[in-house]
Amino acid sequence: TLIKTPHGSLTIPACPPDNQTRVQFSLIIPTYNESRNIKDLIVLLTRILDPVLSNNYELIIVDDNSPDRTWEVAQTLTQTYPQVQVMRRQNEKGLSSAVIRGWQAARGDILGVIDADLQHPPEILLKLLNKIQQGADLAVASRHVEGGGVSEWSILRRFLSRGAQLLGLIILPRVVGRVSDPMSGYFMVRRSSIAGPILNPLGYKILLEVIGRGNIENIAEAGYVFQERQEGESKVTWKQYLEYILHLLRLRSRGRIEKLTQRFNFPVGRFVRFGLVGLSGVFVDMSLFYLLSDPSALGWGLTRSKIIAAEVAIINNFLWNDRWTFGDLSSQQRGWGKRLKRLLKFNVICLAGLVLNVLLLNLLFNVFGINRYLANFLAIGLVTLWNFWVNLKLSWRV
Ligand code: GDD
Ligand code: MN
Repeated sequence: TLIKTPHGSLTIPACPPDNQTRVQFSLIIPTYNESRNIKDLIVLLTRILDPVLSNNYELIIVDDNSPDRTWEVAQTLTQTYPQVQVMRRQNEKGLSSAVIRGWQAARGDILGVIDADLQHPPEILLKLLNKIQQGADLAVASRHVEGGGVSEWSILRRFLSRGAQLLGLIILPRVVGRVSDPMSGYFMVRRSSIAGPILNPLGYKILLEVIGRGNIENIAEAGYVFQERQEGESKVTWKQYLEYILHLLRLRSRGRIEKLTQRFNFPVGRFVRFGLVGLSGVFVDMSLFYLLSDPSALGWGLTRSKIIAAEVAIINNFLWNDRWTFGDLSSQQRGWGKRLKRLLKFNVICLAGLVLNVLLLNLLFNVFGINRYLANFLAIGLVTLWNFWVNLKLSWRV
């Protein structure tokens, strides 16, 4: 009885998946080789949460197919603790995406995360829950407020930790500056504050993503002392530091792309994807156009060859666009009927584009005397813009 691993884009739904009944609180416990910690943690968590939430919560262990078989140990726990659920991921890895996949499967109105290695003291959960109930959108357990700290860290480790925070403040002040402990992996957030945007699974620091992409107004913090690990080992290596920096840069550039997008009211990322798909279509179109129209091949008429080449390219493009360019929108309108409807609309719009394309091609070829392939290429470029905009508005509807 493992729970299904969600797939597709990393976005939290506004309601629990498959119309499941809501619970108050879902806590994700990401694990990798934590078989020696998981039982103690579950015992502590249930002892603390049961009196407060009774059956109205769930603990979701998301294990990345650990070699030490954490998932198996976790599964035996589900017999004693019905609140526990286990997700065993075999096709994806990484701390951040584990947390997001867990939240995607969760039923709670409040979504939380805690480490499995007992370095996050479980009793702080009650303080965090309280903060949310008092109106916070996000409640973060922090090492750097009153009551917080680290137990036995060397000067070097403290320095590295603070250095990373300082770097974050420089690169991404609006996100990193909102909390005293932006590196914290122990927090909870309202579902309604993070449902919607596509989250980025890069790196270890999922909190940055939540603050950076979520819709969060009130943030509360509660101090905690980061405990020493008793069993197993940390998974942090130099790679996580690199990913952290990349993550900061990506969140930062997103801000810039977004500003551009807003200024011109134009979805740049989508258009880039549409353009790339279009390029694959150009390739299909050009090859077929050559095969049909070139005097050394079939030697058919210019217009007839163009129409057939374009129709094949249109179908190629639809398949890619439906899955990729507009994949987030398509997944909200599932089913073969709806898909077929989109294909028809896409086709009609692209055919209108094709009329435009043929007119332009004839204009460029016959009137301006441009080489037929170059003329075709230019015509396709202009028509791409038309196709993108009208399809966005009509076929996938935003
Ligand atoms: N599913 C999954 N997949 N879980 C993972 C993975 C992974 O690839 N990597 C690590 N985990 C789990 C671990 O099993 C543990 O429960 C938790 O994520 C944290 O991993 P650690 O390797 O113990 O991290 P840490 O102790 O160095 O860092 C912790 O403290 C930081 C504060 O300095 C984490 O909580 C960080 O998130 C936190 O920011
Ligand atoms: Mn740890």
